[in-house]
Amino acid sequence: MAGNRTFTMIKPDAVQDNHIGAITQMMEEGGFRIVAMKKTRLTPERAGDFYAVHKERPFYNDLVSYMSKGPIVAMILEKDNAVEDFRKLIGATNPAQAEEGTIRKRFAKSIESNAVHGSDSDENAKIEGDFFFGSDEQF
Ligand code: PPS
Repeated sequence: MAGNRTFTMIKPDAVQDNHIGAITQMMEEGGFRIVAMKKTRLTPERAGDFYAVHKERPFYNDLVSYMSKGPIVAMILEKDNAVEDFRKLIGATNPAQAEEGTIRKRFAKSIESNAVHGSDSDENAKIEGDFFFGSDEQF
């Protein structure tokens, strides 16, 4: 059975460009409820841990350096079929392929600066949410 929670981050450029409100509005209007939310900054070490699964990929160092360059907004979101539906709402990783009406179509600048992260499985959603939030911060 599909889980009902996913994890997301609003990435540094979208935060710096003042899009937190517009992006969370698209999430809420898409039927997602915010379970937990915080603005924080990842150190390069923490960003490296978060993306450790991509360690062998050629873009790993760029991704870690990008994600630690400024504040991000981390969130746990709730909705039926959350992981899959949220990936539809955010659109393709490469914004050149993102469909109209998606968050990345509207706010992504490049494959690196692509506005938001979305978990790719129920298992990772739980791991990633717990990376940022204690059980006493998830409502
Ligand atoms: S996905 O969504 O996991 O299927 O996408 P994937 O292609 O595996 O990419 C994983 C994350 O790496 C980011 N990425 C890049 N960053 C910098 N440069 C390049 N070339 C690049 N290609 C992919 C991509 O935005 C994904 O980040 P998250 O935070 O998971 O969205």
